[in-house]
Amino acid sequence: MSETQKQADACTMIIFGATGDLTKRKLFPALYNLAKAKFLPDNFAIVGVGRQEMTSEDFRSQIRGNLLEFIGKDIDKELLKWFEARTHYTGGDFADKKTFTELKKLLKELDKQFDIPENYFFYLATPPALFGLVTGKVGEIGLSAETDGWRRFIYEKPFGHDLESAKKLNAELQCLLKESQIYRIDHYLGKETVQNILVFRFGNSIFEPIWNRNYIDHVQITVAERLGVEQRGGYYETAGALRDMIPNHIFQLVTLTAMEPPVSFEADAVRNEQVKILRAIQTFSPEDVLKNTVRGQYGDGELDGKKKAAYRAEANVDPNSNTETFAALKISIDNWRWAGVPFYVRTGKRMAGKHSEIVVQFKKAPFMLFRETGIERLTTNRIIIHIQPDEGITLHFGAKIPGPIVNMGAVDMDFNYLDHFGDQISTGYERLLFDCMTGDATLFQRADMVEASWSIVSPVLDVWHAIPARDFPNYESGSWGPKESDALLENDGRKWKNTLD
Ligand code: BG6
Repeated sequence: MSETQKQADACTMIIFGATGDLTKRKLFPALYNLAKAKFLPDNFAIVGVGRQEMTSEDFRSQIRGNLLEFIGKDIDKELLKWFEARTHYTGGDFADKKTFTELKKLLKELDKQFDIPENYFFYLATPPALFGLVTGKVGEIGLSAETDGWRRFIYEKPFGHDLESAKKLNAELQCLLKESQIYRIDHYLGKETVQNILVFRFGNSIFEPIWNRNYIDHVQITVAERLGVEQRGGYYETAGALRDMIPNHIFQLVTLTAMEPPVSFEADAVRNEQVKILRAIQTFSPEDVLKNTVRGQYGDGELDGKKKAAYRAEANVDPNSNTETFAALKISIDNWRWAGVPFYVRTGKRMAGKHSEIVVQFKKAPFMLFRETGIERLTTNRIIIHIQPDEGITLHFGAKIPGPIVNMGAVDMDFNYLDHFGDQISTGYERLLFDCMTGDATLFQRADMVEASWSIVSPVLDVWHAIPARDFPNYESGSWGPKESDALLENDGRKWKNTLD
């Protein structure tokens, strides 16, 4: 630990839904990484709460197995012991008060044992339908009011399934807690490259002067996945690509790319600027939905030489499903900086490559100086922020090809995270957990952000619901989505940048 490194506050983390996949794949490996880097204090404990009955010893041995699987055989044995001494489990029905009185008893014991000043953060890794119930029960036993230590609650996505349900959930939670206790998590904000967007834009002086409609032609944001819906057919049938990715992950990327410089790096200053962008996004009229949005569903196809089945053939999916696995939107931001600069966003499953990136495409040079030479077309300048994989930033520009005649080639200037900063092992949750333990809500969604995001996509969902897609499946597995998605840009004389990994 460096001398300036801050440690998390002494606290106990309580995980509801502790036997689920998230705890195993993300939360414990993230806690291990934080402890390894000495971000966790000794006055720290973890309590898993689940519906399953098991002893703390059983839970520890599960966690030990998971950590060995996710961290690998180089795991630090001493650290593992440190974790085991601090990990406990209590089981029971979430509707039963007894589950919570048992939890309270255990927390008091741990406070004493590890000298923890009653600081608790509750992680709700449960289905959203239980958010209100669990929060209410924690309140009933007197553990949500911040009388002694602090009390914070993290909620996993999805936060509502449309504007109405998000508003209802916000209202329900705000009756039980103060907004400053509510941490709505979006794991995209845990990604280093996403956090770097702010540093790149506002920590350097050379980009901001050209980051506007005078220089930028358009912005493309792609979050493409090669995976299909895997074991999540049941959830996905009720969600679809738009709900699953756009009002949360993709809108985080849009707001960080488009926002004005905040007055400080304080949570509300940053989030105020983000919400201004969401509110400036033009509302989709039904005509806009037909013209400026595209939906798709994957059919059979091939990836890496292997045959892949159509979405409708996946487990727990209706064979006539109308659920989209691809969504693309042309978004207009009505403000001084971005008027006339479209943001094209798309996301899809079973696409040709796994890549998430932001492409900022600049306008062409205004004068064709090289008309009389061999150069027929000028290179368009782009800044590409690679979010994953191969995290980094590329500047794309034209250069003279060596030789006696003037000819031009397109070249890339690359910054790659791995080359410069080495391989930082991270699950993406470390920063977010740490921020919650130190009370920094900058990277968490505020109620107004969630509602503003849903109000942008709700009219799209309404039209898509009213007019079922007749052409599904309309893209092959292993492709770049339906042809209408290409047409969305081609109609404007533009083209998606497709990258293969
Ligand atoms: C989740 C979605 O929030 O994000 C998944 O529910 C999606 O459907 C995942 O696969 C993508 O996350 P990442 O970090 O792999 O880009």
